[in-house]
Amino acid sequence: MKKIVITGGAGFIGSHVVRHFVKKYPEYTIYNLDTLTYAGNLENLKDIENSSNYKFVKADITDEIVIKELFQEYKFDGVIHLAAESHVDRSIKDPLAFAKTNILGTLNLLNSFKELWSNDWSGKRFYHVSTDEVYGTLGNTGLFTEKTSYSPNSPYSASKASSDHFVRSYGETYGLPYVISNCSNNYGPNHFPEKLIPLFINNIINNKSLPVYGDGNYTRDWLYVKDHAIAIDEVFHNGTNENTYNIGGFNEWKNIDLVKLLCSLMDEKLERESGSSEKLITFVKDRPGHDLRYAIDATKINKELGWKPSVTFEQGLSITIDWYLENSEWLERVTTGDYLRYYQDFYTNR
Ligand code: NAD
Ligand code: DAU
Repeated sequence: MKKIVITGGAGFIGSHVVRHFVKKYPEYTIYNLDTLTYAGNLENLKDIENSSNYKFVKADITDEIVIKELFQEYKFDGVIHLAAESHVDRSIKDPLAFAKTNILGTLNLLNSFKELWSNDWSGKRFYHVSTDEVYGTLGNTGLFTEKTSYSPNSPYSASKASSDHFVRSYGETYGLPYVISNCSNNYGPNHFPEKLIPLFINNIINNKSLPVYGDGNYTRDWLYVKDHAIAIDEVFHNGTNENTYNIGGFNEWKNIDLVKLLCSLMDEKLERESGSSEKLITFVKDRPGHDLRYAIDATKINKELGWKPSVTFEQGLSITIDWYLENSEWLERVTTGDYLRYYQDFYTNR
């Protein structure tokens, strides 16, 4: 494969995937297709933006005509699809935006890929990056496997579940060669500070309150984002068509315990009195439809592709906090909105 388009490459996970592929596969041309919503930040890719095998394409996956034209023009051999609206709380406020991007956008990509290659699929692959939230919620025990039935509870997870179904249907109906992965909560550098970990790091730095939803007894399985990028590489190159792979960190934390660990690490790193960050914890109104617990059984990807996380949570969290402390300018530009001008400044007249 020579031409790979990665959608949503300016976002959190996408930027790590783009960097990983650009550096590891100099023989590929990597196209980062992103419309740059509030979550897209090209500053995430500053270090590789001048690489000869990297190209940025500003486009909206919901634009049927533009997407068709781009596929016809560049003839992408592979698609790694991450572009999405990704924040559950935003989906509760504006479900339609999630349906549009996550469902219609995915359909446009599938159609354009099908029109390009349906006469000969050899060497082609469509990789849809999805979430463990499609499975709904677990009780206090059990794990999500690839066979767990879908039971999404939020507009976000419903839109991702729908897009997963469309991908599968294109495999069954048109023979489109696809793989899907469903991953647990990611954390790491470049995470937009609306999600739990980066929001709380930013709030601790600024001595602002830490809004824990409900009683804080909700459980998530956390995976370091660079380990997710490695897993995506494995699935893309070595996964079997028409297969789903669950990806997880073997790393379950109750929100309140995670927040307390984060507080103590931040106290240490900021040289603040022990216990001072914990005083910022405030219990607030719960998220509607809040899923109690996610936990992934990642045995399949481990057994079939030999993948497992490379860092422990304590290591990953420490690296992540250090990154935010060392990149206060990034955080500042993201929270003030200055990063939105980066595209214009960098790409005008190039
Ligand atoms: P993100 O919100 O940080 O980034 C999304 C990116 O998609 C942004 O760069 C944005 O500009 C782009 N985008 C949005 N709408 C677009 C459109 N219409 N056209 C083109 N580009 C568009 O998201 P993320 O957290 O990096 O998640 C990436 C993918 O991984 C998503 O599909 C998400 O469902 C999935 N996922 C995320 C997590 C997680 O913990 N963050 C876990 C599992 C799966
Ligand atoms: O499981 C994978 C999913 O993980 C991805 O598909 C989503 O794109 C990603 O956003 C993430 O969803 P969550 O809803 O689990 O992540 P979030 O960081 O928003 O919340 C994590 C937990 O923390 C959740 O139980 C809600 C809680 N929370 C979150 C925020 C932002 C709080 O208690 N307070 C907060 O302010």
